[in-house]
Amino acid sequence: MDSSLQIATLSERLGVGSQLTGGVLLVDDEPLNLRVLADLLEERWTVHLAGSGAEALRVAAGAPLDVVVADQRMPGMTGVDLLEALRRQRPDLAGIVITGYADMQSLESAINRANAFRFLRKPWEPADVLQAIEQASAFVARGRTIEQLVRLLAAREDELHGSLEALRSQQQALLHLERVGTIGRLSSGIAHDLKNVMSGLRSAEWELQQLDVAQDLREFLTLGLAHVDSLLRTLQTLRDYSRSGSLELEAAPVLPSAVVEAAVSISRMDLAFRQRRIEAQVAPGLPRLLADGQKLTQVLVNLIRNALQASPEAGVVRVSARLLPGAELELAVEDEGAGVPPGLLEQLFQPFVSGKGDQGLGMGLYMARLIVESHHGRISVAPGPAGGARFQVVLPVTGPVDGPVASGGVG
Ligand SMILES: Nc1ncnc2c1ncn2[C@@H]1O[C@H](COP(=O)(O)OP(=O)(O)OP(=O)(O)O)[C@@H](O)[C@H]1O
Ligand SMILES: [Mg+2]
Repeated sequence: MDSSLQIATLSERLGVGSQLTGGVLLVDDEPLNLRVLADLLEERWTVHLAGSGAEALRVAAGAPLDVVVADQRMPGMTGVDLLEALRRQRPDLAGIVITGYADMQSLESAINRANAFRFLRKPWEPADVLQAIEQASAFVARGRTIEQLVRLLAAREDELHGSLEALRSQQQALLHLERVGTIGRLSSGIAHDLKNVMSGLRSAEWELQQLDVAQDLREFLTLGLAHVDSLLRTLQTLRDYSRSGSLELEAAPVLPSAVVEAAVSISRMDLAFRQRRIEAQVAPGLPRLLADGQKLTQVLVNLIRNALQASPEAGVVRVSARLLPGAELELAVEDEGAGVPPGLLEQLFQPFVSGKGDQGLGMGLYMARLIVESHHGRISVAPGPAGGARFQVVLPVTGPVDGPVASGGVG
């Protein structure tokens, strides 16, 4: 298909009509010349007149125009100068310059500058002038049509792209709600059973305290209880989330160092991890966050637990807190394991995604994401400097927060 036909087809399809105004501006310092030209053109075009380049620029700023016909020799501003100025002000117009023989040489260099559509020599023939204006108009129409088409097509593409995105995220949201609904129902059941177990264990703990039993047995039970307690809290959170679609945060000023400390000591409570190395590095003088300290601690605990599980016995897990440029706080957990299996990466923060078989529920990172996003933060993973995984949580710092420091501890 040739390009004019293509443009015509597209214009019809997108409803782009004629882009011509029918306006022609004639510029000459000789009133008589203006009159003769105007007489020739008035039947076919709407003619505007200007006696100088400066006046032409003023007219062009307001009048609906397609073509400008200017005499080259005018005091103050030549025809080429005028077209050059117009090129910046009205790039959608076509210019025709009328010149005498004597001007031709000096004009050569000016042709590019002015971007004139055509030069007509004096004395001109009426038929030449009419044809030149006709062709200049067609050129202008084509340029404006293409411009209009590009604009419309770009808008369409945006529109299409936008609705596609909206559909996709609706789809995603539906899927998410579906899953969360399931989780909510599940967690209510589990929470109920766990509460029963808890009250049994609590009375066992009380009875043990009355008896003269070994210290480590008592400790074992206390730790176990702390675990069950934090599980219950997690389930509670999930249930709330499945009901309201958001997490209920108990926000208070929290020191990042307190969150890190609490998370590390909770992670150490796990007997399996007692002997493992967890190194915390908290940058000095970090501001307090307005955040739910318990939930943030839970995020770090989940990350540290994963890191410990992924690391070799002798591996070090590094937990850090520091400020990033742009008033953001980074909490990071790095390990020396083998890194996240590539097959899991895309779904990592979705519920029930686990690479641990029966050993993992696949909820830890999902919970972490819910909590972080409820704090308007983001969570991501990348390969760490030691070859393992590096999980990064970035939270906004909203400014200096006064008030009592919350400990950030969990249960
Ligand atoms: N630091 C890590 N290094 C390598 N793989 C990891 C790491 N952290 C998480 N993963 C992978 O991501 C999966 C999902 O982690 P997530 O914490 O959500 O669930 P989980 O640990 O399997 O179960 P749980 O619900 O008990 O936490 C893990 O099973 C593991 O395969
Ligand atoms: Mg986990």
